[in-house]
Amino acid sequence: MKFFIDTANLEEIQEANDLGVLDGVTTNPSLCAKVGVRDFEGHIKKICDIVEGDVSAEVVSTTYNEMIEEGMKIAKIADNVVVKIPLIKDGIRAIKTFSDQGIKTNCTLCFSSTQALIAAKAGATYISPFIGRLDDISTDGMQLIEDIVDIYENYCFPTEVLAASIRHPMHVVACAKAGADVGTMPLNVIMGMLNHPLTDSGLTKFLADWDALQASFKS
Ligand code: E4P
Repeated sequence: MKFFIDTANLEEIQEANDLGVLDGVTTNPSLCAKVGVRDFEGHIKKICDIVEGDVSAEVVSTTYNEMIEEGMKIAKIADNVVVKIPLIKDGIRAIKTFSDQGIKTNCTLCFSSTQALIAAKAGATYISPFIGRLDDISTDGMQLIEDIVDIYENYCFPTEVLAASIRHPMHVVACAKAGADVGTMPLNVIMGMLNHPLTDSGLTKFLADWDALQASFKS
């Protein structure tokens, strides 16, 4: 399972990358607004320089021609950039065009299996189903991940299931059990996966016992 960080914050990306387990980055217009990105292409380039893996940068246009023009500019930013496109009619057309040209795409804002099936047929590199936002409206986000994984396996679609809108570490565990190819998550979720109180108390005891042993040799 690949781990992507879901942020446009350069410090957070660097911190996750330093951990050595980061496989890529996803951004969106809201995440760019959160950190006050002014120079979008320059900012995405900085992210692509920090991380070796795929970096999703989202178009903000909604018509086919505009998405192609905007996506082409994004695709030229770096070798590891992925054009992120919303799951709307013109977006599917744009994904098909980019796919035919060998340009990687991440089809975002997926909330149903039917949408995921169409995105795969268009040749999306990644499909991004939003778990947390479905959970927020009393729908089972994890069921959607399981259904898409099953459907893609039935037909050997190469589109990777990128579980998005992950809110907590147990979402990651459920995604891993369901066979999601990628999970994109905020830094606090990545770091939260590390934590266990028994690890902390166990380490404290090991170190105290070691110190006591060393002290016994000196007395
Ligand atoms: C990822 O590609 C999405 O933009 C992101 O995971 C959305 O997460 P949110 O629902 O927490 O905003």
